[in-house]
Amino acid sequence: MYKSFVRVLIIAIVLFSFDLRAKDSTNPIILGDDFHKERRDALREMMPKNSVAVFFANPVRNRSNDVSYIYHQDPNFYYLSGYKEPHAVLLVFKGDEKVEGTKVEDVIFVQEKNKEKEMWTGKRMGIEGAKEQLGFKAAFNGDQFKYIDIDFNKFDKILVDELPADVRNTKNPADLFDLIETFKTKSSYDVNSIAAMPKKTDKMYPIKEPKFDAQTLKKFMATLREVKTDKEIALIKKAVEISAIGQLEMMKAMHPNMSELEAQGVHEFIYKKYGAAHEGYPSIVGAGHNGCILHYEDNAEPMVGDSNLVLMDLGAEYHGYTADVTRTIPSNGKFTDEQRAIYDIVYLAQEAGIAEYTVGNSMYAPRRAAQKVINQGLYELGIISSVDARHNYLPHGTTHHIGLDVHDPGNYDKFAANMVVTMEPGIYIPEGSPCDEKWWGIAVRIEDDILVTKDGPVNLSYMAPRTSNDIEEAMKEESILNSFTLPTLDD
Ligand code: GLY
Ligand code: MN
Ligand code: MN
Repeated sequence: MYKSFVRVLIIAIVLFSFDLRAKDSTNPIILGDDFHKERRDALREMMPKNSVAVFFANPVRNRSNDVSYIYHQDPNFYYLSGYKEPHAVLLVFKGDEKVEGTKVEDVIFVQEKNKEKEMWTGKRMGIEGAKEQLGFKAAFNGDQFKYIDIDFNKFDKILVDELPADVRNTKNPADLFDLIETFKTKSSYDVNSIAAMPKKTDKMYPIKEPKFDAQTLKKFMATLREVKTDKEIALIKKAVEISAIGQLEMMKAMHPNMSELEAQGVHEFIYKKYGAAHEGYPSIVGAGHNGCILHYEDNAEPMVGDSNLVLMDLGAEYHGYTADVTRTIPSNGKFTDEQRAIYDIVYLAQEAGIAEYTVGNSMYAPRRAAQKVINQGLYELGIISSVDARHNYLPHGTTHHIGLDVHDPGNYDKFAANMVVTMEPGIYIPEGSPCDEKWWGIAVRIEDDILVTKDGPVNLSYMAPRTSNDIEEAMKEESILNSFTLPTLDD
């Protein structure tokens, strides 16, 4: 009895560890086929009767000559399928449709397996993979899209995003170019006639809804993607924690002789150390005046300088999900009086904004709360002449969803539980601004990633010090990078 119990236990442990292995970080189906199937079902639920939703994989983008940019799947395509390869099309039907004699709810056309090509560019999932790993009942090679009988004309609505216009024709009969052309032919797609469709109010013509509809599809996808599932939250949490640790380590390592590029490298090294393969957007490291450029991506300053602020806006992408975290720190470890004054206003503005991240509240409330604090603060410092004065020291929004995209889609109406949203106020005072010159060149942004819960906001980027005092304390800590020396090379 005891022995057989132990045997059962051992078998259970082995099976469980296999199960874990199936979900490890090298597995392409990190969210699991059930996640993607469930998301397709949720979309199906919203779709109008007798409709089909059509999704194309992202194009491969050429960088130069025969080199492509690292491939990144279209987030909607990934969300609904889990498929990460290019040259693919996904059809989601409202009801069951007969495809090759079998009734199915959706069908995917994928890249064909090809030993020779896989030797150069890596393993392909193929039809089997799409069925076994992604759980599709109907999967075919891309070249079959042309021949398989799918009558798009029978649908009242075809929900499809604007077709990508910059797709290269590789002359391969199953490339994205070909899949799009096949779709256009099969569905009698004519974007010009859609744009010219008479309005409902036009009495001259019969009332007719456009058959092809990108707007409704965008709305459906925004509604689905703006509220995260538990599995998505777990991945985002990890991406954000990795990014926050990057910020903390960089605070320890910062010194006035460091280049912007080197600082960027420190963050990104930490991302990779934790298994985050990519950045969710081009990293921003701007010292002094460069901090005033909102999406500064050159990161080319050879030295951050002695008493500059360094604005660092970076996000690790962990299994497709991206963080978006910003810290602004003094290059020599100590804020000047002016830098601290501005920094502390932005901090208080952020605190006021975060307090607004409550279920049911307007998603515009945080921006309004932050603006109020910033106006009051700038007025008290004599930078603006009244609390209502118009100015451009906070030229951007403070609140956007994150997820598979750094600016994830959403309806931007009211906060709901399980949304993950940034709070990112800033003050930027470029040279020539209508205030005392002593403020010129000060740029501060503080950005955190907030999980909305029924019990209130949870700051997922809590590991990155945020108050001016905590930042100064962190910067006093020793960094292991200080002992990292390399040989000097000739110029
Ligand atoms: N890093 C881009 C943004 O903060 O929205
Ligand atoms: Mn942001
Ligand atoms: Mn950002």
